[in-house]
Amino acid sequence: MLNKESLLAAAEHIQDAEYHVSLTALQFIRDIMIKDRSVSATVLLTKEDEAYKQSLEEAVKEAFRKAGAEEVHLRFRTATEYERTEAAKKLQAEASQTASEAVNILDPQHGVTFIAVASGKGGVGKSTVTVNLAVALARLGKRVGIIDADIYGFSVPDMMGIEERPQMADQRILPVERFGVKVMSMGFFVEDNAPIIWRGPMLGKMLRNFFNEVTWGELDYMLLDLPPGTGDVALDVHQMIPQSEEIIVTTPHATAAFVAARAGAMAVHTNHKILGVVENMAYYECGKCGERDYVFGRGGGAKLAEELHTDLLAQIPLGAPDNHIAEPDYSPSVYKPETPTGQLYMELARAVIAKH
Ligand SMILES: Nc1ncnc2c1ncn2[C@@H]1O[C@H](COP(=O)(O)OP(=O)(O)O)[C@@H](O)[C@H]1O
Ligand SMILES: [Mg+2]
Repeated sequence: MLNKESLLAAAEHIQDAEYHVSLTALQFIRDIMIKDRSVSATVLLTKEDEAYKQSLEEAVKEAFRKAGAEEVHLRFRTATEYERTEAAKKLQAEASQTASEAVNILDPQHGVTFIAVASGKGGVGKSTVTVNLAVALARLGKRVGIIDADIYGFSVPDMMGIEERPQMADQRILPVERFGVKVMSMGFFVEDNAPIIWRGPMLGKMLRNFFNEVTWGELDYMLLDLPPGTGDVALDVHQMIPQSEEIIVTTPHATAAFVAARAGAMAVHTNHKILGVVENMAYYECGKCGERDYVFGRGGGAKLAEELHTDLLAQIPLGAPDNHIAEPDYSPSVYKPETPTGQLYMELARAVIAKH
């Protein structure tokens, strides 16, 4: 259809000689009148130069014809001082808006809820819980990101079956998206699983870059897969994100819960709100008889929740997802939503949302 919008859209690529941005963004194409298929308009010039004027005339006429105009009449005039200042102000406002969007997901104004997933020790399923909670939140329509902050033991990309690497745009890193979740991990920047030899300060810097140099866009939740235990990196993250909330993962074994309590104590110490405890590998359910076998003991999650004055949010049984490598969205660790464990993660996600 031939209307003002379609004409302006067709001319969007034409740039002003001084500002080097689109004439339409500057609102330098004005007074568009359409009568039948005949179009007239005013074009503002920032430079009095006959050759420049002619090149603009040709470009705008061609664009308008492409949009369906048969006849095009253009008037040209030099932009006034006032019009130039207005245009410059507008550009500046837009630039600072993009910059502040880019700025800081860490800024409490951003509105994202940070949830750090912590554990006392490795191997209890912290990453598995992070990934599946993130995917479940996304399945419920939330906008979700994961920062794999377990810098030595990064595993999120592999667990989610991510093979691509992040792209760059405007000198910034774009997270990789999988199952509707935006993911950033040290694993993306390590060749062939080569060991990482960086230490302390470098790691803190890396993490900071994950916040500052990555275009996350709008998010409802940002999950952080923390390194196990209460070491430097975990402490760094706690201090870097004072507003973060926390989920503690443990197995049902009494000693595991005891060790996890230290991670809980750290959360309390850094004033992080504890959302609750997830007990992973809680039991094994016999596929034939449905009987539950408490392979790793019993009660650790409930005891830990009690100690931390918080809730036991979920008990996830033993059992790997039944995924096959031939499936198009194969992942080693993401449970399908319709499976019993997938359902438990949906309930966990609902419980998390209910706390906000
Ligand atoms: N509920 C579960 N049932 C069976 N295997 C699990 C379960 N949760 C985690 N695993 C497996 O246990 C191992 C450790 O889990 P992971 O999430 O990497 O732990 P962490 O991040 O705490 O080190 C992984 O191989 C993972 O696939
Ligand atoms: Mg892990």
